[in-house]
Amino acid sequence: MADTGEAIPLGFEEHFPAPLPITVDLLDYSGRSWTVRVKKRGENVFLTLGWENFVKDNNLEDGKHLNFIYDRQRTFYVIIFGHNMCSEFRSFPQVVVEVDDYENGEEVIGKMKSNKYSCNTRAETLEWIIAIIDFLQPFSFLINAHVVNFFKDKQWEAVDEEWMSCLKDEKPENILLIPSGGVQDHWPASLKEFVHTLRSLSFPREQADLQAILADVDMVPLSTVLSQGMNLKKKHEVEVLSSVVSSVVKSVGAPTVVDVGAGQGYLAQVLSFQYKHSVVAIDSSSHHGKVTDARAARIRKHFAAQMRKSGSGNKCPDVPMTITCRVLSTEMLKALTDVPLEKNDMDFNGSSLDEGQSRSQSSSDATRSCSLVLAGLHACGDLSVTMLRTFMECEEVKAVVSIGCCYNLLSEKSSEDSCSKCGYPMSAGLKSLGFSLGKNARDLACQSAERWSSLGEDAGLQNFELHSFRAAFQMVLSKHYPEILATSPSIGRQGKAFRRQQQRKSIETPAAVDTTRKDTDNKKPMGQTSSNFDMCSSFEKFCLSAFSRLNLEHPRDLDLNATWKEADAFTELIGPYWSIRAALGPVLETLILLDRLMFLQEQGDSIKVVMLPIFEPTISPRNVAIIARRL
Ligand SMILES: C[S@@+](CC[C@H](N)C(=O)[O-])C[C@H]1O[C@@H](n2cnc3c(N)ncnc32)[C@H](O)[C@@H]1O
Repeated sequence: MADTGEAIPLGFEEHFPAPLPITVDLLDYSGRSWTVRVKKRGENVFLTLGWENFVKDNNLEDGKHLNFIYDRQRTFYVIIFGHNMCSEFRSFPQVVVEVDDYENGEEVIGKMKSNKYSCNTRAETLEWIIAIIDFLQPFSFLINAHVVNFFKDKQWEAVDEEWMSCLKDEKPENILLIPSGGVQDHWPASLKEFVHTLRSLSFPREQADLQAILADVDMVPLSTVLSQGMNLKKKHEVEVLSSVVSSVVKSVGAPTVVDVGAGQGYLAQVLSFQYKHSVVAIDSSSHHGKVTDARAARIRKHFAAQMRKSGSGNKCPDVPMTITCRVLSTEMLKALTDVPLEKNDMDFNGSSLDEGQSRSQSSSDATRSCSLVLAGLHACGDLSVTMLRTFMECEEVKAVVSIGCCYNLLSEKSSEDSCSKCGYPMSAGLKSLGFSLGKNARDLACQSAERWSSLGEDAGLQNFELHSFRAAFQMVLSKHYPEILATSPSIGRQGKAFRRQQQRKSIETPAAVDTTRKDTDNKKPMGQTSSNFDMCSSFEKFCLSAFSRLNLEHPRDLDLNATWKEADAFTELIGPYWSIRAALGPVLETLILLDRLMFLQEQGDSIKVVMLPIFEPTISPRNVAIIARRL
């Protein structure tokens, strides 16, 4: 056995199940496990990616023999023999495994999975990514399901029957906890294992102790002037992120911050006025640019008056420079960051700033910006990716602080094209694994467990009712307008408007909305918020409004009563199905974030990168920041 990280042959294909698992777990004497990629070459099956970790962690050198005992699923128990051919028992202090546990391999693996993953190095990140892919693979039917087809395609039939029959009688508030890892004792063991594994594979969201991790983070509460117009969530985000960005700016000694996707400039203004950095705010919306300028002018006036009053001779901080431009490539972002700071309020939309053209050509050396930090608060889709790539490609960008969002907007490499600059995947590691997401998975990655669990029972139930109506309406379309169905019609924001109507109704006549509620019975299974009569009449209203939104005539032989009756028998399953599916969201988001992290880790030791949950997740669930700087 050579201690190389190269692929090693495991045996002939015929000894393995078909299809071959993507990865297997190598489990050693002490219960430690390594996830390793499996590949077929010719008739042989090899261990490839991740094998090098096993080699390294076990100090394997020439002359050692390994014995692999296969459970015929995807676990290999590995025994290491020394030079004298005696098996080596290696003790590892962090894991204690009862011998009895070996009788139930699943139990051992399940226990080890909690807090198992880390991403401090490229190898660790890769191991985590492989574990996620491996776990998600059997659930692709759930990820790719379009829930509007719930009744039409009888989607619940694809899910473990035991899970569905248990969850259909479960209290809604418990069902809503599934995406956050909540399980009940009486649930089937396989369902509990599913929820626990999802939790252990998801990047933790508890707010990090920033003061302990980052140098010089000085969180200053925002004054009423600076926070004017911000809601609670925005105030929290800007308060935390501005202090983090400022600490990074100081640590790399860059004079300028570029706020990418700046919106109405909240972050940019706090960085200017409170932290006294010179700031450029880029956004594609000219309206946002104007609002940013007007707001900054008001704040500046206030600061100037205060300084005059206090007699401090200090110069009032500059307002952020606003640039209106849709950033579509690293070349564009590089060019924009070369814009001289003196020239304020630029609108490059429709100007001749093409991809690849650098504005630095027309800027004098004196005004050319030098080092800077890129910051983005919820920069949508590919914009966050462009920021990370620009950081890598442009020496002047000394650091980047990126919090992404709207993964649904990410561009993705399809199997046919070889797009090297797609939003997903970014890292060479993930590209080599060839795991594509697709639109439904990217949509799902936007689901937040915290939002889901904080919905509360009534809002949760209304949500599920709405999904029932939409899915039942799909049956109506399928029967009367199959040609429209083929165009994947969207009925837009009908759902939200309808929910508001329902909420008003529930405030005015609570009994009408929840006629089945028994005061003595706190268990209200799914699908029982309203009497059948109320539900049917609400469904009719929903359909009439949906027809009008789609500009469709009501079919003559429309029998909504019959459609609702057909659907109603299964409405109790929609909440469980939706929640089980939503539980995959945080893992999918983790995969996207780990891909970005690994892209940076792949660039070598000259870059220091961390991934941290920086906001309180109940206030701002999309809270993971990737912070990278040049050393
Ligand atoms: C989710 S908002 C965040 C706004 C702001 N950072 C905040 O948190 O208040 C995303 C912003 O990015 C802008 N944006 C999206 N794509 C862009 C692009 N390609 N180039 C520039 N701005 C973009 C949008 O106009 C929007 O204002």
